[in-house]
Amino acid sequence: MSKVLVTGGCGYIGSHTIVDLIDNGFDVVSVDNLSNSSESVLNGIEAITGKRVKNYNIDLCWEEATHQLFEDHPDIEGVIHFAALKLVGESVQQPIRYFRNNLNSLLNLLDCMARHGTPHLIFSSSCSVYGNTTDLPVTEDTPLQEAESPYARTKQMGEQIIRDFARVHPAHKSILLRYFNPAGAHESALIGEAPTNPASNLVPVITETAIGKRREMTVFGDDYDTRDGSCIRDYIHVMDLANAHTKALQYLQKGKNTDNLEVFNLGIGEGVTVLEAINAFMMVTAQPLAYRLGERRPGDVVAIYANNDRAARRLGWEPKRDIRDIMRTAWEWEKRR
Ligand code: NAD
Ligand code: WQD
Repeated sequence: MSKVLVTGGCGYIGSHTIVDLIDNGFDVVSVDNLSNSSESVLNGIEAITGKRVKNYNIDLCWEEATHQLFEDHPDIEGVIHFAALKLVGESVQQPIRYFRNNLNSLLNLLDCMARHGTPHLIFSSSCSVYGNTTDLPVTEDTPLQEAESPYARTKQMGEQIIRDFARVHPAHKSILLRYFNPAGAHESALIGEAPTNPASNLVPVITETAIGKRREMTVFGDDYDTRDGSCIRDYIHVMDLANAHTKALQYLQKGKNTDNLEVFNLGIGEGVTVLEAINAFMMVTAQPLAYRLGERRPGDVVAIYANNDRAARRLGWEPKRDIRDIMRTAWEWEKRR
């Protein structure tokens, strides 16, 4: 069994990816300092897979502890690096905290991987690296614009750091995965999005409003130049996203890569408006939703969605779920939480 270190394994995308990795025969070790998660997610993973995953409660910015982890697991063959702070608005208020956390953790990790000869890295990047682009759909070759937030800049810088690392470590192979808008939950509703920070993304805001945790929600802008006036995004189901990580790792292990650093967009390749997402929720769940049309949110891009041809062609990855599956599974998870 191939051993994988998943950083941020107790978080949203990390926990769903662990399930997919275990389903595909990987042995998983998690490291997560629980700054935005709880170890109770490991119970959900165990209930789904029958496997208990060990989490090391370590801050990856702590160099010695991170090195010790690699000493204790010399057989780690690959790292999937999810651990990061991810709130765009918070990053504007606390830029230094975001640079320190997201970059120091990556630097320590790369240092450990170099020292221990760990061959494979999958990095969580984001469509936010494209900035306010108007070139749609976005391909991996679409030029990156100025980052719109310190968070997005940590992803651009993270990508660049890995690029420079790859130049001097030709035997090391990395993949940068640029996620669009991840949402939804595992079919079982045993795991889902459970941040300790308040949710601000559209889908959890919808489910939290429908269940009564919020009185009402606001659609940020209905006067954009789109088919119904609201913003367009590419919502990708978290289990489809999870499976792309497994496929990326297998791709590297089989030596199918064409370069020692490759980039892939992960979206479904279609744009959905905010109002379409809300309608999908109401249709699939038969729940009413208290929403009002409000002001535009500062910093929002009008529309962004992926061209995912490269991931389909090279990784053999195909998203199987759509916005209705996202809403159905997110709602089941919300009711169970
Ligand atoms: P999450 O907050 O649920 O998971 C991240 C986990 O990393 C958390 O459990 C947190 O406790 C942990 N962590 C943070 N800093 C750490 C550190 N220094 N040491 C150890 N653990 C640490 O976030 P997520 O939604 O699962 O996102 C995973 C990755 O994907 C992040 O890198 C994020 O930037 C990226 N991403 C997320 C989205 C999204 O919308 N969710 C979109 C694009 C990219
Ligand atoms: C989606 C749409 C909102 C909440 C963010 C990050 C990006 C990436 C994904 C990490 C927008 C609208 C939302 C609400 C609304 N994360 N909305 N009412 O901003 O596309 O992307 O998450 O890398 O970097 O910026 O996602 O879910 O916040 O918003 O109308 O209460 O829903 O205006 O059009 P976003 P989101």
